[in-house]
Amino acid sequence: MKNHVWRPLFVVLGLVAVILLVRLFIVPDDFSVGERGYMYGYHRLGNEQEWKDFKTKFRTSTYCNDCHEEKMAERVGSPHALIECENCHGLAGDHPDNPEKLTLDRSRELCLRCHTRLAYPSSQRKDLAGIDPQEHNPGDACVDCHNPHRPNLEEM
Ligand code: HEC
Ligand code: HEC
Ligand code: HEC
Ligand code: HEC
Repeated sequence: MKNHVWRPLFVVLGLVAVILLVRLFIVPDDFSVGERGYMYGYHRLGNEQEWKDFKTKFRTSTYCNDCHEEKMAERVGSPHALIECENCHGLAGDHPDNPEKLTLDRSRELCLRCHTRLAYPSSQRKDLAGIDPQEHNPGDACVDCHNPHRPNLEEM
């Protein structure tokens, strides 16, 4: 074969060699798949401890049950029973140590985020009971009439 065919091939081989060499220096020694094989893919093994030490901020509703049983009880059978408490009250983190209290958001916006009636037919979000904020008791807080934990009026 002619030289002009071989030359580009050497360039490519040279590049591959350089990449392998650089990789040798910059990839950390503990970069591997860990004891559970490929379950978690390739990662730094030292990174596992960093993630274990990472504080969870989202605690889920079961966490609230220890201290706010009456709220958990109140919403049993309510259409809102499936909504995580933290969806409305914000992330609990180390509450009640830090923050001491969670927010009580009494604004209409809190509810309208999910209950503004949508016209478009394509998304399932439109199946959620919707109201027109301009028509439905404008100016009044939703929670003046609806209990946020048990919003169906006929059941209150
Ligand atoms: C270890 C007990 C404990 C746990 C667990 C806990 N709370 Fe609390 N919570 C408290 C205490 C204590 C207060 C302060 C009570 C007060 O001052 O009226 C508080 C206050 C609140 C307030 C403010 C009440 C007000 O009147 O201002 C909200 C809202 C709240 N918690 C929601 C939650 C939610 C949601 C969860 C679960 C993610 C949760 N809490 C988990 C103990 C707890
Ligand atoms: C749909 C939104 C929403 C969800 C979900 C929700 N809350 Fe609330 N919660 C509110 C609002 C709004 C208020 C303030 C009501 C008011 O002031 O009239 C409130 C008030 C409270 C209060 C303090 C006032 C009181 O009545 O004692 C506590 C404590 C509380 N919620 C805990 C919880 C817990 C625990 C859960 C989950 C089991 C939860 N909330 C789920 C919206 C919500
Ligand atoms: C995170 C989304 C979300 C938020 C925020 C939320 N809701 Fe709901 N709400 C739902 C879901 C889901 C249902 C049950 C499905 C349904 O009935 O369409 C529901 C049901 C209801 C119902 C019963 C509707 C019916 O005809 O059965 C009322 C009333 C209601 N919510 C009022 C409120 C009020 C008032 C607030 C604010 C305090 C609020 N919601 C905040 C998601 C939400
Ligand atoms: C002055 C009292 C009042 C206020 C304020 C109010 N509502 Fe209502 N709402 C009602 C009544 C009454 C009904 C009809 C009875 C029922 O469905 O329980 C209703 C029905 C609903 C329904 C069910 C609609 C359906 O098609 O099934 C939703 C969702 C709702 N309201 C959400 C809200 C939201 C979100 C706000 C605040 C933006 C709000 N409401 C403010 C009194 C009120």
